[in-house]
Amino acid sequence: MIYNEISKVIDNKEIAENIFEAHLSSDNLSKIAKPGQFINILPSSSFDKTMRRPMSLSYQDSNSFKIIYKPIGDGTRIMRSWKEGDSADIIGPLGNAWEVSKNKEAILLGGGVGIAPILNLYNNIESTHPSHLFFGARKKEEHFIDHNPDKNIYISTDDGSAGIKGNLFEAMKSIFDINDFKDKSIYVCGPPMMMEAVRKFSVEHDIECHLALETIMACGIGICQGCTVEKCSDESSTDTYRNKYELVCMDGPIYKANEVKTCLL
Ligand SMILES: Cc1cc2nc3c(=O)[nH]c(=O)nc-3n(C[C@H](O)[C@H](O)[C@H](O)COP(=O)(O)OP(=O)(O)OC[C@H]3O[C@@H](n4cnc5c(N)ncnc54)[C@H](O)[C@@H]3O)c2cc1C
Ligand code: FES
Repeated sequence: MIYNEISKVIDNKEIAENIFEAHLSSDNLSKIAKPGQFINILPSSSFDKTMRRPMSLSYQDSNSFKIIYKPIGDGTRIMRSWKEGDSADIIGPLGNAWEVSKNKEAILLGGGVGIAPILNLYNNIESTHPSHLFFGARKKEEHFIDHNPDKNIYISTDDGSAGIKGNLFEAMKSIFDINDFKDKSIYVCGPPMMMEAVRKFSVEHDIECHLALETIMACGIGICQGCTVEKCSDESSTDTYRNKYELVCMDGPIYKANEVKTCLL
């Protein structure tokens, strides 16, 4: 079931340098959304762009949800100005959800605002499932989670100002030896270059890996074909358009590493 709701802003604040978290009310969608699914937001009734803006849920309970966003354009700049009590028109939940392997430990990698769907998954499985959370950013000021290896929570920074120096892929490899991955599966969302490095590594070493692809989207409902990703189709199959391409808004955003040809979209 997909709902169209008018959500009220409960809270909206900067949680790290130029990273914002909005908490919104929800009558229905937050009850049924599964970690990994996304919503499409019309940030204000006067928004003059045709297309809504897709956002992942970073938290959900029975009557509210949170998003984590970086203001980069008109839509997210309107979100930044949301005040308590403002309204936003939301459609969701959309797309597929993370599929968690019950018998494997989870390595969760979230880079930048890609941490949003990773945090929602972490909160959902952490009490029942051995999990290792990695959060990567360029520098210390962009972090809002503490580095706490005793609790299997690691942060990384490109400039080494906090946590492990390097990108998320390097941080993960500094903690785990190649043999450690046999009983683990990876869940990743973040910058395309980092995701592509993780995708290639997983495919090369036959490691189970789930990717949340955040392509540029327009309609969000399977009409415009603006969110295609080339899949690793069976070469012998008939080469039709739908055999060759997936629509991230309808078929995704979650894919296994061996299902898509690249994360560089
Ligand atoms: C499934 C999904 C989940 C997402 N979840 C989040 C989230 O949790 N938090 C968050 O901050 N963002 C998220 N995004 C990305 C966000 O929806 C876009 O960045 C959105 O376009 C921002 O709207 P805007 O009006 O502020 O900027 P726009 O005016 O739409 O874009 C500003 C600039 O960013 C570029 N751009 C837009 N989208 C992307 C993209 N996906 N990748 C790279 N460049 C892009 C545009 O080409 C343009 O140059 C998600 C996207 C998808 C598809
Ligand atoms: S965004 Fe239009 S088809 Fe996916």
